Amino acid sequence: MLKGKHIILGVTGSIAAYKSAVLCRLLVGAGAEVKVVMTSLAKQFITPLTMATLSKHPILVDFFNPENGEWNSHVSLGEWADLYLIAPATANTMAKMATGVADNLLLTTYLSARCPVAIAPAMDLDMYAHTATQRNMAQLRADGVHIIEPGSGELASGLVGKGRMAEPQDILKAVEALFSEKKKSLEGKRFLVTAGATIEPIDPVRYISNHSSGKMGYAIAEALVQRGAEVTLVSGRTALDKPEGVERVDVLSAEEMYEACVERFQQMDGAVMCAAVADYTPAVVADEKLKKSDSDMSIALKRTKDIAAALGAQKGSRVLVGFAMETQNERENAQSKLQRKNFDFIVLNSLRKEGAGFRGDTNIVTLIDAHEQVELPLMSKHDVAEHIVDKIETLL
Ligand code: C5P
Repeated sequence: MLKGKHIILGVTGSIAAYKSAVLCRLLVGAGAEVKVVMTSLAKQFITPLTMATLSKHPILVDFFNPENGEWNSHVSLGEWADLYLIAPATANTMAKMATGVADNLLLTTYLSARCPVAIAPAMDLDMYAHTATQRNMAQLRADGVHIIEPGSGELASGLVGKGRMAEPQDILKAVEALFSEKKKSLEGKRFLVTAGATIEPIDPVRYISNHSSGKMGYAIAEALVQRGAEVTLVSGRTALDKPEGVERVDVLSAEEMYEACVERFQQMDGAVMCAAVADYTPAVVADEKLKKSDSDMSIALKRTKDIAAALGAQKGSRVLVGFAMETQNERENAQSKLQRKNFDFIVLNSLRKEGAGFRGDTNIVTLIDAHEQVELPLMSKHDVAEHIVDKIETLL
């Protein structure tokens, strides 16, 4: 459910911080990658060693490491995260968040975070019921912060009432629900995605193809489905399993892919052209296996149809996204493809960068549209897909 999600877990100074260890383990167990930010007071309640071991990342407390001056960038941390979860959130931290005070790393990260923020308050019943706390919580709700309500029960003070931090299992459920809310943002929308390599037969035995693994296109199909879209994946050759909830149409040649796409595009709200389509195909496909002889041989090739350009010509108000894999004059070539094929935006990946391109699980891309070029850092193809789908959402 949380597979591949990046979560910052903020821990503040409350007795409930001991539950953060369990929460951290649950989040990691559900597939999330978790980085922990603590206030210095939180360290009195739960040790950094415990949280670092459970999250598998060093914990972050200060703006910089006093030993070597290394900067803990709240900005890049805020960009990295899909969710900032502060559990427990004390009355003090909530008050600071409500007014924009930024006197520790946990708070500067809050102000830098572009992702959804959720907090699980924990405090004594009178502190919780106080007008000031309730006013701050109302402000945080108005600012878009999700509040995971505390439960009622025995409190550390011995009093009984509302203020106990929600149980880790319930916080996990709330986090999962937050991600599935995001899921529904594309409900009712239909998308066509092309992926993988085409196969152009030379004879019954040989063919022309390329190194595409299909991973990027499959990740996009998955990300669209997770947000509630209906997805038809027109797939060339890959070794990948059909993603859950996707309709897959298997094709081999560029011609077959062309037919499958043109036939379906009118019913779609958008298409993402991620396949590595052959530009040329043998002019004649031999019926029998070609025999070798002592002399060299050449194969006559003819142009294939450009599927993306054909869809671009009949795009109307649909969203159309393309890919470009360039080895030289990358941005200029991508820009010209953007216009020629009538894409709303194009995803440029460079073969020259380590961690980018074919086969691997990571990519480095630049999203280019008519107005801007946004270069994303090295990240998993799954995360690249999320960025692409985020951008698609802004265009619908
Ligand atoms: O022209 P080039 O092949 O570099 O363009 C890449 C983009 O066009 C990709 O989005 C690719 O999927 C798409 N394309 C296509 N049909 C072709 C060639 C490329 O859809 N025949």
